[in-house]
Amino acid sequence: MDLVLFGPPAAGKGTQAARLTDLLKVPQISTGDMMRTEKKSGSDLGQKFADYMEKGLLVPDEMVGELIKKRLGQDDAKNGAIFDGYPRTVAQAELLDSILTELGRKVDKVVSIEVSLETVVERISGRRTDPSTGQVYHLTYNPPPVDFGGELAQRKDDTPDVVRERYKGYENKTLPVLPYYEAKELVAAVDGVGSLDEVTERIKAAIGTS
Ligand code: AP5
Repeated sequence: MDLVLFGPPAAGKGTQAARLTDLLKVPQISTGDMMRTEKKSGSDLGQKFADYMEKGLLVPDEMVGELIKKRLGQDDAKNGAIFDGYPRTVAQAELLDSILTELGRKVDKVVSIEVSLETVVERISGRRTDPSTGQVYHLTYNPPPVDFGGELAQRKDDTPDVVRERYKGYENKTLPVLPYYEAKELVAAVDGVGSLDEVTERIKAAIGTS
């Protein structure tokens, strides 16, 4: 199955994608995570990604296209993927369609996780990541285990100014992706407010696996 998880920053796309990989037996493909990994490697490409990300701007489509083509060529993605944070522009959605067509596949479903701007701000301010595993927590809603001994990190782009910019990019460039998929009758809207389990169950119902 090729599933797109769509939604604003901090809607819970990454959290839910990670919870669905075992069930669907396909990998989570997060362009944001891939870019952060590239940045951590110290490469020039990683620094180019960071220059956009730290300002809350979308990375240009061509650069993202190269990443996604490479990732979809890897063995673990040969039966499908859960796309988290991709596609984010209509051009990216068109490219994804053409790559999947070449592979004899297509986007099967787009789940739009709906949350208000107020929820976005609340989730972003409490989000922390374990730098050694990449596991994402929320200080209130999804805290680390009580015996967690490490130090949690906050993403550089989770500051109020950058979040405002990211949300603007979402409204102007990413929201138009929804009508693109609605025209293909692929979109299911899911309420993103509730416990992690509740949201997972709603997504499972939307994709017909519950
Ligand atoms: P990216 O990393 O993709 O960030 P994003 O889309 O802004 O989404 P987030 O990772 O912020 O949120 P999420 O929806 O995954 O929520 P999460 O599960 O963490 O992109 C970052 C940047 O990279 C972009 O700004 C851009 O510069 C660049 N980029 C990436 N992809 C690109 C592309 N395709 N094209 C161009 N540029 C690109 O949850 C958020 C918090 O809420 C967590 O703390 C979590 O624990 C908590 N939470 C989750 N679910 C719940 C719940 N049900 N109740 C309470 N809390 C919850």
